[in-house]
Amino acid sequence: MKMSVIAVRYSTGMRWFLMTRPSLAVNIAGIQMKNPVMPASGCFGFGEEYRDFIDLNALGAIVVKSVTLKPTPGNPPPRVCETPGGMLNAIGWQNPGLEVFVEKKMPFLRQYDTPVIVNMAGKTKQEYADLAGELDQVPGLAGLELNISCPNVEEGGVAFGVDPVLAAKVTAAVRERTSLPLLVKLSPNVTDIGVMAKAVEAAGADALSLINTLTGIAIDIERRRPVLSNVTGGLSGPAIKPVALHMVWKSAQLVKIPILGMGGILRAQDAIEFLLAGATAVQVGIGNFIKPGLMTEIIQGIEAYLAAHGFDDVNDLVGAAFKKE
Ligand SMILES: Cc1cc2nc3c(=O)[nH]c(=O)nc-3n(C[C@H](O)[C@H](O)[C@H](O)COP(=O)(O)O)c2cc1C
Repeated sequence: MKMSVIAVRYSTGMRWFLMTRPSLAVNIAGIQMKNPVMPASGCFGFGEEYRDFIDLNALGAIVVKSVTLKPTPGNPPPRVCETPGGMLNAIGWQNPGLEVFVEKKMPFLRQYDTPVIVNMAGKTKQEYADLAGELDQVPGLAGLELNISCPNVEEGGVAFGVDPVLAAKVTAAVRERTSLPLLVKLSPNVTDIGVMAKAVEAAGADALSLINTLTGIAIDIERRRPVLSNVTGGLSGPAIKPVALHMVWKSAQLVKIPILGMGGILRAQDAIEFLLAGATAVQVGIGNFIKPGLMTEIIQGIEAYLAAHGFDDVNDLVGAAFKKE
């Protein structure tokens, strides 16, 4: 419970009141956050583009676009397309690479009193481990988010994120090279998310980010070809919210580590559903494209919900939909 002093002007003069406000603070694997709301990787760049639209100090954390060891150009266009209730993207891991991230992006991010989480991607276990080792040395980083929805070139293109053995191996390799809190972002393109969640927890993950995009295709009927140059893309937006909620719900009952939930969060109500399903924090993806100031509204909406329902602390909502009274 936080105390706030508010001033009310009466005709007889000013009066001061002490008000209690619910606490929004959460702790994810040692990362202390002012509130449970942050952008999802790839939907907020490195924060600079959003600074005129939203107070970066008001966010729970900033999760940046996937960073790779070397600069990556990404896929050729067209690489995004709107679909009912969402969008497909096949950006690839377009990013300036580790060196530019450290020298040009981190100085900007360090100005803010908000934990910075780097989402990291690679093509081999070694690449992931080396990247983690380098990032471990970067001052001002609060944590790493391991994006394992990537084709593993060593294992013939099988994505790390759809095989529990590979997922565990890459998690363990990264764990060995960093003492930073390690969030592992899981792919929903699996038969049983619980198996993946338990595998990476056992391999040393400190938290889970759930979910990345669902694989899909759109076809241009005039050209009679796929819309995206990459043919397949990742589906995100409200269309995937029920799937994401189910995966959070299921994983939350199988693992002890905290979960960051995402997928189609466009309103405070959506975020609250994720918390009730077992997420300790939430990430907002394409909602930032629709409304750049959306995360502020979501933070205020969660606070209003807590106050209206008599909760002192946002942590009391976590998993409340499945916990017995
Ligand atoms: C344009 C775009 C780019 C993305 N880039 C990344 C990325 O670089 N790394 C990553 O882990 N997830 C990436 N994602 C996935 C999002 O972080 C998030 O998991 C997904 O979009 C679901 O959330 P949403 O429905 O709120 O958008 C990207 C999503 C979109 C739409």
